[in-house]
Amino acid sequence: MSLRFHEIAESGHRILNPFTDDKLALLGEVARLRSGMRLLDLGCGKGEMLCQWSRAHGIEGVGIDISEVFLDGARARAAELGVSGRVRFEHGDAGAHRAEPGSFDVVSCLGVTWIGGGLEGTVKLMLPALKDDGILLVGEPYWISEPPAQAHEAFGFAPEEFVSLAGTFDRFEATGTEVLEMVLADRDSWDRYAASQWWTLSDWLRANPGDPDVAEVRAFLESSRRFHVEYGRRYLGWGVFVVRRR
Ligand SMILES: C[S@@+](CC[C@H](N)C(=O)[O-])C[C@H]1O[C@@H](n2cnc3c(N)ncnc32)[C@H](O)[C@@H]1O
Repeated sequence: MSLRFHEIAESGHRILNPFTDDKLALLGEVARLRSGMRLLDLGCGKGEMLCQWSRAHGIEGVGIDISEVFLDGARARAAELGVSGRVRFEHGDAGAHRAEPGSFDVVSCLGVTWIGGGLEGTVKLMLPALKDDGILLVGEPYWISEPPAQAHEAFGFAPEEFVSLAGTFDRFEATGTEVLEMVLADRDSWDRYAASQWWTLSDWLRANPGDPDVAEVRAFLESSRRFHVEYGRRYLGWGVFVVRRR
């Protein structure tokens, strides 16, 4: 899926995942953040998590993302919330980013686990940057119940890409980590992420009839809208899992 489509579809979003502000704040509480902690956020999007948590909990942090559009939004948000001195945003491939070993209290990756070829690979990629007693925050989809084969086809998921919630815990287990906590999206919070893209995309199509990507953006809108109402709301869960080394 083209990065540009996401930049267009999520131009009105601050949080680029199925969490609302309330759920993001709840995650900050359950993660037991304390002032001065250092957080590395891989695939930080518009940096909303870092900025909000820096203001609420006094954490410091670094966000890495490949989208200059999203990073511009992140820097603007940091300035707006008065945390520019504590958070920094860098352009780059999060899969290739090598932080100083053992230098972060929290390493997060929300909705970007393809950077390590899936959940297990991404956890392994995140662990070196973590202090001995640090935690990882990993945002990952899971199947609420086994979807029909058409659901995989409809959105181009390989059948084995995501598993059940229990299967997701097994995947963490296989990396030598233990799940300590979790905050899950629900259907309403999924709607705030998915449904709120439709109007934005429809407006963009009206405003940009001559753009060379119009047909593809239209197809993206149609297929993602259909997927959400036909399968996503029913079968696709998403959560952030708080884990640490065993
Ligand atoms: C689903 S969004 C999640 C963003 C953010 N973590 C959040 O939850 O708001 C996926 C993000 O990953 C970024 N991304 C995709 N591939 C990347 C890569 N290889 N390295 C860094 N960022 C990447 C996209 O630009 C986008 O911001």
